[in-house]
Amino acid sequence: GISQDMVGETVLVTAGPTYEPIDPVRFLGNRSSGKMGYAIAEAAIRRGARVVLITGPTALKPPSAAEVVPVETAEQMRNAVMAHFPDADVVIKTAAVADYTAKHRSDQKIKRKGEMMLDLVPTTDILAELGQRRVKPAQVIIGFAAETQDGVSNAREKLRKKGVDAIVMNDVSRVGLGFSSDRNAATIVTASEEIEIPEMTKLEMAQRVLDLAVKLRASIRSE
Ligand code: PMT
Repeated sequence: GISQDMVGETVLVTAGPTYEPIDPVRFLGNRSSGKMGYAIAEAAIRRGARVVLITGPTALKPPSAAEVVPVETAEQMRNAVMAHFPDADVVIKTAAVADYTAKHRSDQKIKRKGEMMLDLVPTTDILAELGQRRVKPAQVIIGFAAETQDGVSNAREKLRKKGVDAIVMNDVSRVGLGFSSDRNAATIVTASEEIEIPEMTKLEMAQRVLDLAVKLRASIRSE
């Protein structure tokens, strides 16, 4: 049987891509399918947690026991995360949030006429904002990082800069893993360790990430 070690815990999961509108018919998006985040939601439910799943646009069916909050843009994702953060014991951010959004959103479909420039402005870094304003002492915050080079050192940098408890670094340049695939592999970086997660299904990886979340919760509580 599955251990019910998350009963009474609220887990906030973000999943999928964000869509940043350019005009009424176009957006900037990315290749996240939502599978990794939905797997975390499913795994947390199996362990007895209450799950709030904040999701960008995906083609997936969410676990029926999850409280689903659908969003589209990085800004909407930020607002939804902030609204649910005070309730959360564990936050796991698998969403591939846009780093940039269009500076101006055209009300009308942009017409084709030769070369054009699109002005972009940075979005708010939601993970960094959470790291800086924990509302409950034992809140555990875990981010993901999609890297194509220097993964572990970039993950260490993100861990430090964003003030979070762990970064799950997946090398998205590896064929058949990461974006859209049912499988993944990662190195999880915490302040004190590096945990190698060999290739496995996203549901299996989700269980490993939750094992760490449970362990971190216990260690923070006993401090
Ligand atoms: O959805 P799948 O197809 O299953 O693919 C899974 C995945 C590859 C998308 C997932 O495993 C993953 O790596 N997600 C994080 C992707 C990402 O955006 O990485 P990043 O290094 O750009 O961001 C680092 C962290 O900061 C992430 O936790 C992200 O949610 C967060 N972030 C980023 C930008 C922003 N404006 N706000 C954020 O909170």
